[in-house]
Amino acid sequence: MSFAGDRVVLRVIVSGAAGFIGSHMCDRLLAEGHTVVGLDNFLTGSERNLEHLAGQPRFRLVRHDVTLPLGLDNPIDAVIHMASPASPKDYLQHPIETLDVGSAGTRQMLEMARAYNAGFLLTSTSETYGDPLVHPQVETYWGNVNPVGPRSCYDESKRFAEALTMAFHRTYKMRTNIARIFNTYGPRMKLNDGRVVPAFLDQALRGEPMTVFGDGSQTRSFCYVSDLVDGLYRLMQSDERYPVNLGNPEEMTILEFAEHIRRLTSSKSGILHEPLPQDDPKQRKPDIGKARRILGWEPRVSLEDGLRQTIEYFRAQQAPAA
Ligand SMILES: NC(=O)c1ccc[n+]([C@@H]2O[C@H](COP(=O)([O-])OP(=O)(O)OC[C@H]3O[C@@H](n4cnc5c(N)ncnc54)[C@H](O)[C@@H]3O)[C@@H](O)[C@H]2O)c1
Repeated sequence: MSFAGDRVVLRVIVSGAAGFIGSHMCDRLLAEGHTVVGLDNFLTGSERNLEHLAGQPRFRLVRHDVTLPLGLDNPIDAVIHMASPASPKDYLQHPIETLDVGSAGTRQMLEMARAYNAGFLLTSTSETYGDPLVHPQVETYWGNVNPVGPRSCYDESKRFAEALTMAFHRTYKMRTNIARIFNTYGPRMKLNDGRVVPAFLDQALRGEPMTVFGDGSQTRSFCYVSDLVDGLYRLMQSDERYPVNLGNPEEMTILEFAEHIRRLTSSKSGILHEPLPQDDPKQRKPDIGKARRILGWEPRVSLEDGLRQTIEYFRAQQAPAA
């Protein structure tokens, strides 16, 4: 079926629905009037991220490990495959599960889409570029990945998932899309997942020193989750089969970022420098020219607004239960 018409109601499978981005994707699909079946084994996600959807008749959450087959009782129109540990802390703790979900899990989700002639969207990552030698990263850059380093479980899992998606497209003429997501932040990130936004916010709100790896001159760019989800929603309706970068091109050093957080939280936290982790990219910034051109997409939420909403969420998380 075509995604073309504005008001076509779809039945969509979202793997990794209980995760940070997956839960926001479900919200967006439901807001657009679609029906959603979320699949998750809660390896890194939480049912709490979806508890606001209790009683929503167009949503169902199924506990399922997507590396295993699943029979469906109704046809589907689209599969959005987001299941995968995503934070370095999570994938370093679950390297084999990470490789499994990128390989066997992607295969299961592709087969499911194929069985129903449904569209398929893979959420890949900027980590496919590794420690990039080209800056900013364009989709045509093939990357600089250490295939046997500790992070390879994630990077290579996603590179394999991209290759498998293209193979299914080429072999079966499936309608597939690949998003290369850059650092995304917002409410429902885990406080303790080791990623820079929750780590800084948690430390700043507690008044503890903010941990900066290395001298803090490495750069990152941060995309607010509603912007990212909008890009994914546009991409799944497009005919683009090759990867598309989605992220915010506004680049800053980690030290500058720590300053923003300190100011917005009115925190007095100092900075604590620790050694750089192995294979930590020195620069990370998407070239989003392709997304602008073919999807008419670019981030709209300013860092200030996005951080304010995220800070509100984290404050509520840290507040002691009444
Ligand atoms: N957050 C980012 O900045 C970012 C950047 C690049 C790419 N991505 C990609 O976006 C997707 C979502 O990331 P996130 O930040 O929401 O991560 P997350 O860890 O919050 O969510 C991932 C979800 O997948 C589930 N999952 C993992 N293995 C599974 C399995 N075998 N079966 C079923 N469910 C399983 C987890 O329980 C979790 O709910 C991932 O594919 C990730 O690689 C995220």
